[in-house]
Amino acid sequence: MSDIDLLFAAARRVHERAYAPYSRYGVGVAIRDDAGQLHVGVNVENAAYPIGTCAEAGAIAAMIASGGRWIAEMCVVGDGELLVTPCGGCRQRIREFASPSTLIHCASLSGVQRSFTLEELLPYSFGPNHLVELK
Ligand code: THU
Repeated sequence: MSDIDLLFAAARRVHERAYAPYSRYGVGVAIRDDAGQLHVGVNVENAAYPIGTCAEAGAIAAMIASGGRWIAEMCVVGDGELLVTPCGGCRQRIREFASPSTLIHCASLSGVQRSFTLEELLPYSFGPNHLVELK
């Protein structure tokens, strides 16, 4: 299996564990960090709707908690016919730990539909480098 196939398989598998009783829109994410380790996450909704969390946020938290620091590549699997892409907030979350050329593979349950660089999803982004310049 190629790296992308493995990443998709991990995201597809964890998608089964999404907790999305309100939207019924499950999302699974797999990240491969720069050390080659995989980290996964799902969306976790809540009866108090605004505090639900996205799958990308879960996968990033898992990466950081296990010592990973940099996203090499990631795959997002979502339900439905329309192409799932990370929400605006998650694009910024990814931005913290990825480079402009990092690939984000967007997939349906049947496979990767389209891949984007982070730069394509979040052009002219604000990031840690802006704050470093102030020091
Ligand atoms: N969702 C994600 O987990 N990631 C995205 O990038 C898009 C949206 C979740 C949030 C919510 O639980 C459900 O999908 C519907 O918005």
